[in-house]
Amino acid sequence: MPDALDSALVALRAAGVETPRLDAEVLLADVLGVERGDLLMRDLVVEGEAIRRFQDAVRRRAVEREPVAYITGRRAFRHVELAVDPRVLVPRPETELLVELAVAALPEGARVVDVGTGSGAVALALADERPDLNVTGSDVSADALAVARANGDRLGLRVEWTLADGVPAGEWDAVVANPPYVAEGERLPPEIARHEPPGALFAGADGLDVLRRLELTAPWIALEHGAAQGDAVRALLGGAGYGDVATHRDLAGLDRVTTGARPR
Ligand SMILES: C[S@@+](CC[C@H](N)C(=O)[O-])C[C@H]1O[C@@H](n2cnc3c(N)ncnc32)[C@H](O)[C@@H]1O
Repeated sequence: MPDALDSALVALRAAGVETPRLDAEVLLADVLGVERGDLLMRDLVVEGEAIRRFQDAVRRRAVEREPVAYITGRRAFRHVELAVDPRVLVPRPETELLVELAVAALPEGARVVDVGTGSGAVALALADERPDLNVTGSDVSADALAVARANGDRLGLRVEWTLADGVPAGEWDAVVANPPYVAEGERLPPEIARHEPPGALFAGADGLDVLRRLELTAPWIALEHGAAQGDAVRALLGGAGYGDVATHRDLAGLDRVTTGARPR
């Protein structure tokens, strides 16, 4: 097994992959159907079909620069594991802050919609951690919604799914969203630029087009945005009559989620 891992490391390093050891271990563990920690603990043999599948996974990562999550077909987010493929953005660790803030802020039984749900990550994590909430996930992409719905069915979590551009019609106590917020023309790593859906990434010249068009009327709102967009999103919420407007930092210390509340 060390041989298989070693040659994968060489290939991934040569290709300029940022986290070669982590990626090689995750891909090998996936091929062998074990946990990553098991690779060190157990004397695992990689041979025959497993070697071929591992080499193919490493080629996809090194040559095609596919994200690991699209190769393994899954990604952990909060306490759930989501199936992901190129129809949806790979859920990011920084988006967990959106869930954390909503879990802490929302009153019992609140009706909350996750706008731009993608794989369903935020909606499903909310339903998982706060079964009292009435959660809806919406997206403008029917392809994304199919992935989200399949994730919901597999996880057995109660979420309504709806196809909508922006905030869907309905009575909402809260809106949470991780919309596209990358400026057109911004240079992105090949994993993102070549493989993730452009409709999940780009939002006009300054990256704020989707955020600006969101209907801002719900009593509580939490919006994820780019690290340099905090001022603009605070101004947007302030202009829409929200109070208690605050921007929260992610684990990297970057402005990431802005929240606001308004009287009912
Ligand atoms: C950055 S991804 C976020 C996906 C998921 N919420 C997550 O955090 O992993 C943005 C999502 O918003 C959707 N989207 C883009 N424009 C939209 C719009 N006008 N209305 C609703 N959804 C939109 C995209 O299809 C995509 O699934």
